[in-house]
Amino acid sequence: MDALPLYRQLATHYRHAIAAGTLLPGDRLPSVRVLMERHRVSLSTALQACREMEAQGLVEARPRSGYFVRVPRRPTTPIEEPSAGLPDPAQYVGIHARISAIIARGLRHADAVNFAGACAPAELYPVDALRQAASRALRRHPTLLASSVEPEGHPALRAALARHALQARMALSPEQIVITHGCTEALNLALRAVAGPGDVIAVESPTYYGLLQILESLGMRALEVPTSPQTGISLEALELAAQTYDNIRAVVAVPNLQNPQGSIMPDANKARLVQWCETRGIALIEDDCFSALAEVDTPLAAAKAWDRSGNVIHCGSLHKILAPGMRLGWITAGRWQQRVEMLKFSQSRPNELLSQIAAADVMASGNFERHLRRLRQKLRDQREWAARTIATMFPAGTRLSSPRGGMHLWVELPGRLSSEAVFDEALRAGIRVMPGVVFSNSSRFDHCIRINTGAPRSAALEQAFARLAVVVNRLADR
Ligand SMILES: Cc1ncc(COP(=O)(O)O)c(C=O)c1O
Repeated sequence: MDALPLYRQLATHYRHAIAAGTLLPGDRLPSVRVLMERHRVSLSTALQACREMEAQGLVEARPRSGYFVRVPRRPTTPIEEPSAGLPDPAQYVGIHARISAIIARGLRHADAVNFAGACAPAELYPVDALRQAASRALRRHPTLLASSVEPEGHPALRAALARHALQARMALSPEQIVITHGCTEALNLALRAVAGPGDVIAVESPTYYGLLQILESLGMRALEVPTSPQTGISLEALELAAQTYDNIRAVVAVPNLQNPQGSIMPDANKARLVQWCETRGIALIEDDCFSALAEVDTPLAAAKAWDRSGNVIHCGSLHKILAPGMRLGWITAGRWQQRVEMLKFSQSRPNELLSQIAAADVMASGNFERHLRRLRQKLRDQREWAARTIATMFPAGTRLSSPRGGMHLWVELPGRLSSEAVFDEALRAGIRVMPGVVFSNSSRFDHCIRINTGAPRSAALEQAFARLAVVVNRLADR
């Protein structure tokens, strides 16, 4: 920092104070006279430092009153729309190793504040109702833990999920639903049902890193298709992709609350996507883990609602919305139903019964909808607070997604700042974030980070944000 001109050093000093929360929005900056005395600088250096901070949007001058820390407005600049250019036929050259190394580095810091996860802490889930339901199940069925299990899942849970699916405008019978180990297993089964090693799968860009890991482990290749932060996968880019690559076997998309950007596809786009895949003879795998968390008046429809021919495989999960500890997911596989049932049996056999019965019990009671309403409200407050905090503390030029639900913010850092450097430095400061590098095989999102906003607001969390902001600001200043 010493190589910087004096006025910049001074500006950086106060910028860090603002980032760390020592100076809060609305606080008065020390007067020019105090700056001169305190830092032993000339009048012009003190003035220049103030103007520098003003230019950076950190402070504002008020006539005859001095400089004040700006109350930041939430950045209204949306994250840029991608161009509908040619997709990136990225191959799996070391992506798995890179993602796994980053995840392993994060896990070695289990005590760090976790902004990297994809669910909320236990206290936001209906722990009492779940515990009581599990005890009830054991009381009612004393031999439960020694009993054998139906291969496709417990009928009560399949029935509860079929009822739940009605909200997303899917009319399914319980027999069309197979219970899985989270959405992760559902995606594995779906991909194995429709494609084999070497096949090309169109995925969103950026996409959930777990999908990239699954594809790599199945020996499949990802074709990254630009995805809008507002409206999801670009249908124009998809068309261009199909004209260029004639071997696409499936599209995997998250139409509702996409991970990481939080986009929601308009219904018209969902209908077009389903139709387009059908016409092209390309399977559509819909990953639908978060839609119950959307803050909308009418529940979001799944793309599967427009499926008339069984070409859409729908994969869901209770992991983010009801019970992270149960690892329950499900799949309904259209014309690949029998194949998926066989694959599930051969891959992992059925899920254990106790969790299924307990989850079904809670879902059948009023507890489930009540819990979801409460969870959405809490997540909304937390996300909005986190967005305001990031807007206040992160360097000028930071852009944020503004999802209509869920527990993630996608943050674009200014100046092509390296998210992996942020990840490593943040770990040293006791904080885990998910760096943009893991959401694509390309380097297109290397300057982004995903922040989990599932944790309730607290003084400790506020401090963690401040520490993270110090890390980001320090790297931005380099
Ligand atoms: C988009 C998406 N799909 C699938 C999964 C995996 O879901 P599960 O935890 O139910 O296996 C996640 C988890 O974060 C996700 O974000």
